Amino acid sequence: NREVGIALLGVGTVGGAVARTIAEQRDVIEARSGIRLVVRRAMARSTERVVQAGLPVEVATTKIEEVIGDDGVDVVVEAMGGEEPAATYMRLALESGKHVVTANKEALSKHFAGLVATARSSGRALLFEASVGGGIPLMASLRQILAVNRITRIRGIVNGTTNYILTQMAERGATYAEALREAQQLGYAEPDPTADVEGYDAAYKLAILASLAAGRHIRPERVDRTGITGVTPEQVAEAGARGGAIKLIAGAELDAEGWRLRVGPEFVPGDHLLAHVRLNYNAMEITGDRVGPVVLYGQGAGPQPTASAIVSDIVDAVRFGAVLTPEIAPE
Ligand code: HSE
Repeated sequence: NREVGIALLGVGTVGGAVARTIAEQRDVIEARSGIRLVVRRAMARSTERVVQAGLPVEVATTKIEEVIGDDGVDVVVEAMGGEEPAATYMRLALESGKHVVTANKEALSKHFAGLVATARSSGRALLFEASVGGGIPLMASLRQILAVNRITRIRGIVNGTTNYILTQMAERGATYAEALREAQQLGYAEPDPTADVEGYDAAYKLAILASLAAGRHIRPERVDRTGITGVTPEQVAEAGARGGAIKLIAGAELDAEGWRLRVGPEFVPGDHLLAHVRLNYNAMEITGDRVGPVVLYGQGAGPQPTASAIVSDIVDAVRFGAVLTPEIAPE
């Protein structure tokens, strides 16, 4: 069996969950794939975070050079979040011959074509299953559908924090502030929840999905975006009284003029699946010209589902390498 060295960039909510998942699932992963995962480096703001994640103190570092210069590191997991320095670190890691696995929708959506090109020219995998839909195998499904279909429409709920807030307002009469605090405590929200509640997080995710469908980089700035901060308790209650719900819907559609992308709160009637997606769950309907509509549903936010997707990507990167890196043409 092969031992594979992992480096974690960032040991916060997501990075810590990845460390724990690797420790707890190590034997299962080895039995199923023949790959034994070992965390060799963990770059964090403090050594304390590294130790709290159950990792040995010797793996802690604060220098990217020590990560990318380490021949024992095969896969770099970027779990820092934010555009920079994450995007630069991913590029450096790929150029140094490491596979990169990321959950970072902001860095990816803004640098998609460039990062993919670097991965391909380095012959390495750049995988990002956890960047959209948390634990839902959305990228694996898209890969499957895209091999044969033209995707013409993508529509769903891709932000767990806002869906949690809207659910708690509707079902418990919770205030916006209370529900947001809970979403933060449960590890759903971004470090700065503005990205969630103003719809930026959903816009990044939608841009990633649309770029994959289009095979070309579609930037998040192209998304017509509205968040949920203007949604009132009265609107939420009224939607419930009508048998439906207000949801933050992300939609991308291909028409004669190209892809049209929108994120915003919408009334969803009760007879539609999306009205019943509760709490931190996400759901995404993908329509292909051959397969028709496919709906994927599961936990879209939370440390454990997200870590599940990341660790699966690590295994895939080692097993399959660059063939899984998509082709995304520049804008
Ligand atoms: N803050 C994100 C969400 C985390 O709430 O959906 C998962 O990407």
